[in-house]
Amino acid sequence: MEHHSNIVPWQQLAARTGAVVRFAGITEEGELDWEDFESKLSEKTKLVSVAAISNVLGTRIPIAEIVSKAKQFGAFVVVDAAQHVPHEPTVVSEWGADFIAFSAHKMLGPTGIGILYGRQALLEAMPPFLGGGNMISSVTTEGFTPGELPARFEAGTPPIVEAIGLGTAIEYLKKIGVGAIREHEAELTVLAHDLLPRIDGLRILGPPPQKKAGIISFVVDGLSAQDIAIFLDRQGIAIRAGHHCAMPLHDYLGIPNSCRASFYLYNTKDDVERLAEALAVVVAKLR
Ligand SMILES: Cc1ncc(COP(=O)(O)O)c(C=O)c1O
Repeated sequence: MEHHSNIVPWQQLAARTGAVVRFAGITEEGELDWEDFESKLSEKTKLVSVAAISNVLGTRIPIAEIVSKAKQFGAFVVVDAAQHVPHEPTVVSEWGADFIAFSAHKMLGPTGIGILYGRQALLEAMPPFLGGGNMISSVTTEGFTPGELPARFEAGTPPIVEAIGLGTAIEYLKKIGVGAIREHEAELTVLAHDLLPRIDGLRILGPPPQKKAGIISFVVDGLSAQDIAIFLDRQGIAIRAGHHCAMPLHDYLGIPNSCRASFYLYNTKDDVERLAEALAVVVAKLR
């Protein structure tokens, strides 16, 4: 159930190094298949990379348990927290992961910037991946010495405007409280799980509301996701239709694409009710 951004870079790395990328399966309910995950681990496992929350199914993944299991095999753990940090309180030390990444544009910040957390000892052991200005402590015609952390990984002129925007977004979210956002989204998710399946032929993908974040992906028998999204758009309701950068998941589910409504702090119960009403109309009409 990973986003392409947590698949393709590893495939690129594998092509360069000969490493093998293996996928743990998911259960029918859309949760991590723990037995399959364990069966894929061995002393050859160098790294486990996993999203804390699926951007399609909304499933919450037990990161601390994954880290503890992976560590038994000496593997590093990378967490894609793009859907977690904006929607659930995130305590880095509770996870114990080696690297955690998340994106500003999912948390009311600008596009094109995000944060990579890494354990200091690992970052210090890593060579810079990009050369240029600002990432050095000295340069001669013979070579260069990398700068201190984090500058050594931040070559070139930084995205100054975006960094200020991200800082402001973080302050704003902290003031509201991500815990309060989670509770608000949970209410909307329960309501959506109540209203949407009443629509003829509509099936919500993934686990029940208690086990997921505020992401409602669904399919409607015999109808194209794109048609549904276009019709809703005309009613002023914005959902997304497509593979949501998760083609392997859709392959596994045996569907070409899906519709996705995702909630955040600005959505209301009224939005969910309007979505359900408009969907009932579109489904009847397209049939
Ligand atoms: C779970 C998850 N991981 C990664 C990404 C990709 O983030 P970015 O576009 O900032 O690389 C997204 C969304 O775009 C996402 O939902």
